[in-house]
Amino acid sequence: MRLRGQVCLVTGASSGIGRALAQRFAHEGADLILTARRRHLLEEVAREIQHSRPEGRLLVLPADLRRPEDIDSLARESLAAFGRVDIVINNAGIGYFAPATELALEPVEELWQVNVRAPMLLTRALLPSMIERRSGTLLYVASLAGKYGVKEGSVYAATKFALRGFAWSVFQEVRQHNIRVIVLCPGSTATPFGGGVGSGSRSERILQPEDVADIALAAVLLPPTATVSELELRPTNP
Ligand SMILES: NC(=O)c1ccc[n+]([C@@H]2O[C@H](COP(=O)([O-])OP(=O)(O)OC[C@H]3O[C@@H](n4cnc5c(N)ncnc54)[C@H](OP(=O)(O)O)[C@@H]3O)[C@@H](O)[C@H]2O)c1
Repeated sequence: MRLRGQVCLVTGASSGIGRALAQRFAHEGADLILTARRRHLLEEVAREIQHSRPEGRLLVLPADLRRPEDIDSLARESLAAFGRVDIVINNAGIGYFAPATELALEPVEELWQVNVRAPMLLTRALLPSMIERRSGTLLYVASLAGKYGVKEGSVYAATKFALRGFAWSVFQEVRQHNIRVIVLCPGSTATPFGGGVGSGSRSERILQPEDVADIALAAVLLPPTATVSELELRPTNP
């Protein structure tokens, strides 16, 4: 129970990596705010958590991260309910994949809204209260594609490069306030992401969402005087 008393907000908690993160952080005693669009899946995750850990506090706040007004409400209602958020996990993300010349404008815009603008707006909404308390952890789930690019994923990769640029810049602004910023860059992970890039026969040989959650937890549990800025995650024996 190493996170008892800490309030943790997880975006994209209805599925895949976010779901595993919520379960892992709950297991360590954190109070949780779960968000995504699909309320019934969030409630399913909430029930699982409450079943295995009846004593912690948990709030389900559905939001569509394409909508700035939903992000405002999410931050406001989280602060109203708990008084603070100690750990913000910006995990929600989407992937549309096609050759660079072929991706239509609509998916391009949605990629930027969900993968970059949403974590930026959520950070801006919650950071002032962290600065005031001189503590907090901001965690961003980027991707190996956001470091090295990926064939037929040029816009997705661009959004993850941008997310890393935002996170690294924020870190330079907030480390003086005792706030940590951690960027995770997983490789292919067995989730429904992008229509199932990690599904089928490969799924056992790539990262599991629980692997990503374990590594995120290890980074968050480091002594508060030190931080890891960025982690690249790969399966040991693909
Ligand atoms: N799986 C991989 O191979 C892989 C590799 C590297 C990095 N990543 C990154 O890991 C993160 C999590 O992905 P995953 O693999 O766990 O995929 P996933 O299972 O598809 O989960 C994506 C999550 O994002 C949420 N989401 C999507 N659009 C949203 C919106 N408009 N508003 C609110 N929430 C939204 C989804 O919830 P709702 O649909 O309920 O809204 C879902 O909970 C993403 O940032 C992804 O880029 C994944």
